[in-house]
Amino acid sequence: MEKIATIVGARPQFIKTAVISPKLRNHYQEVLIHTGQHYDYNMSEQFFEELNIPFPDYNLGISGGTHAEMTGRMLIEIEKVLINEKPDGVLVYGDTNSTLAAALAAAKLHIPICHIEAGVRTHSITNPEEINRICTDHVSTLLLACTDAGVKELEKEGLSDKTFLVGDPMYDVYVKYSGNMNVGDVYLTQLGSSDKIEVPEKYFYITCHREENTSDKSITEIFKAMESMGEKTIFPVHPRNRERVLRIINDYGFKDIVVVEPVGYLESMALVRNCIKVVTDSGGLQREAFFAKKQCVTVLNFVCWPETMIGNMNQLARPDAEDIIDKLSKDMVIDSNYQPFGDGNAANKIIMALQSGF
Ligand code: UD1
Ligand code: UDP
Repeated sequence: MEKIATIVGARPQFIKTAVISPKLRNHYQEVLIHTGQHYDYNMSEQFFEELNIPFPDYNLGISGGTHAEMTGRMLIEIEKVLINEKPDGVLVYGDTNSTLAAALAAAKLHIPICHIEAGVRTHSITNPEEINRICTDHVSTLLLACTDAGVKELEKEGLSDKTFLVGDPMYDVYVKYSGNMNVGDVYLTQLGSSDKIEVPEKYFYITCHREENTSDKSITEIFKAMESMGEKTIFPVHPRNRERVLRIINDYGFKDIVVVEPVGYLESMALVRNCIKVVTDSGGLQREAFFAKKQCVTVLNFVCWPETMIGNMNQLARPDAEDIIDKLSKDMVIDSNYQPFGDGNAANKIIMALQSGF
């Protein structure tokens, strides 16, 4: 049996392995390598437990520092594991520093690389993830795109020969798991204390963690917008913004922003499915809002998933309270026949592409 090394490190990558690893293991011996980029229980282990993801064979324990420090340390340690394990191929997901380090380490050892979620482009080269995506796509052997837009981007860069359209594994996960928890069973933990909070009947759901929004101004403007909506807002806070969020809530006395510890995937989906609207800068949450037919406002100055920007289902907003309020006031139009993310069988297509492409 051929051996595939899957290399992951961040929350959205764990979630995707939930549908891909079990199928991969029917055909290949999988070695699962966790870089350690996300390491808190509720950013890592919780997903392995609730989605029954096979436990990693390696955890390299590398996190934090500058982009170069993190990527460099990962590159060194991943290379050692790949030399030791001698896989026939490497599987990487998305656009994190773990993705880039894994792809570079494998490319230099001449190990074929399969990139899942290839071809996403924001055309903003100051976006750290854009650098990771472009470099990863260009050293990979097999480029598996989620959507037609991804295929077209790869074509523009002369990469059509290696490209397959497989659909979005995040949609597979959504189809398989999103209904597994009712909002009434969601267990929220207040940020900064162990107090438990019930989910209010009506609420907006927001997340915010991108480097572009790691400033007092962005967070404060988002909070001012949400505070003016007359309903509660649930905000599970990524550890990157933890201290900042607690300080801003304290300084401004926002009453309707319910700040909580990061939740698990099943909880997050129950919250999406029952919320009024979503405000986020997360690539994953933008698509999940679309899957659940919830309107989303994306606080970024670039489009990550152009497929979702239709009928006001997803709109960009500046980190500016008035702009966010304006976008939240728009009506959306839903076309139920529009399915740009595939049919929920991306994982099967990924395995087929691996079998024919490597
Ligand atoms: C990373 C990805 C981003 C992805 C996100 C998913 C890069 C460049 N960015 O961003 O594309 O959307 O993951 O969530 O790889 N921290 C903790 N505990 C944790 C994880 C992080 O305290 O479990 C803190 C660390 O201090 C770290 C900071 O959060 O320095 C930022 O984490 P990092 O992994 O660098 O970036 P993310 O914002 O998570
Ligand atoms: N998510 C979660 N718990 C949270 C916040 C988000 O499980 O507290 C889920 C979210 O529903 C989506 C994924 O995490 O499935 C997206 O990850 P993230 O926003 O960290 O990364 P991105 O998608 O922006 O790369």
